[in-house]
Amino acid sequence: MGDERARPIEWLGDHVRLLDQTRLPGEEVYLELDSYQGLAEAIRELRIRGAPAIGVAAAYGMALAALKIEAGSRDDFLTRLRRASRALAATRPTAVNLRWAIERMKKVAAAGRDIGRIKQALVEEAVRIHREQFEADRRLSQLGAGLIKDGSVILTHCNTGALATTGCGTALGVIGAAAEGGKAVKVLATETRPLLQGARLTCWELQRAGIPATLITDSMAGYFMSRGGVDCVIVGADRIAANGDTANKIGTYTLAVLARENGIPFYVAAPTSTIDPTLAAGDDIPIEQRRPEEVTHIRGVPIAPEGCQAANPAFDITPHKYITAIITERGIIREPFGEGIRRIL
Ligand code: MRU
Repeated sequence: MGDERARPIEWLGDHVRLLDQTRLPGEEVYLELDSYQGLAEAIRELRIRGAPAIGVAAAYGMALAALKIEAGSRDDFLTRLRRASRALAATRPTAVNLRWAIERMKKVAAAGRDIGRIKQALVEEAVRIHREQFEADRRLSQLGAGLIKDGSVILTHCNTGALATTGCGTALGVIGAAAEGGKAVKVLATETRPLLQGARLTCWELQRAGIPATLITDSMAGYFMSRGGVDCVIVGADRIAANGDTANKIGTYTLAVLARENGIPFYVAAPTSTIDPTLAAGDDIPIEQRRPEEVTHIRGVPIAPEGCQAANPAFDITPHKYITAIITERGIIREPFGEGIRRIL
């Protein structure tokens, strides 16, 4: 979104520079990481987060692992690289982009003959994945902008901007492209409990882009939708099953049901790397369960009595019947989603 686009991760030849998103919006702290273990920790702790961004980060993690391996033979090298790939893949289970990027990197490694060339090819592949993400965002944002009417109030959830993708964003990319195209848009951004990606990150990105935004708590969405205050809902995705069912940040399902009840279009914006054609339906998508402390505490401050039980599923599944359209870089898909997904893949 414009020149103020955040740069959540950058490749600097032999290490990455990563913007620690847990410190935003208060502080802009950059970490210099030169090991895959450091990147795995950053992904697990959401210093970098958002499905496409963790795919890019995992690709760089594989490149860093490769650069550090000193192996006597190609087989030994590949065995040690596989160990790194397993550690990176285990960081977060829901976003398929992570595994997708790791699989791409593994294929490149397997195709190489000597260790030196494999290392170089892995760095090049990670940079390519990063660049492709930027292009995919740009294209899907332009396509999606065509769905946005001038003067719209758009409700979005979680954070789907440059921070979440390393490009220009998915759902926020669509909003940014509509604004850049001259449409007057206003955003209602949900705070996104428990980790407040909406309040901390979406509002930060929208402010930098100069797009008017109003922060609401997650539980205010129904109030605004039922009073005619929302023209459409756009969210991102962490994994889309073959039938169009979509995993996204916890609370997305609630928004989709509310949108249907109130006759409001509900759009999902995601690159095709977020589609997992191996899973027939949303029920098959693994849902990350995170620490209860993320619910009982806000930034280390307890908000519930000590010893209180808390659940913390990080994502939920929106059945495809609630989705008006899925916006990808290869086109906009509508019902029947299964057929549309097969066609674009
Ligand atoms: O837990 P997070 O912050 O990684 O969750 C992110 C989301 O749910 C996003 O909506 C999704 O990854 C799409 S990002 C373009």
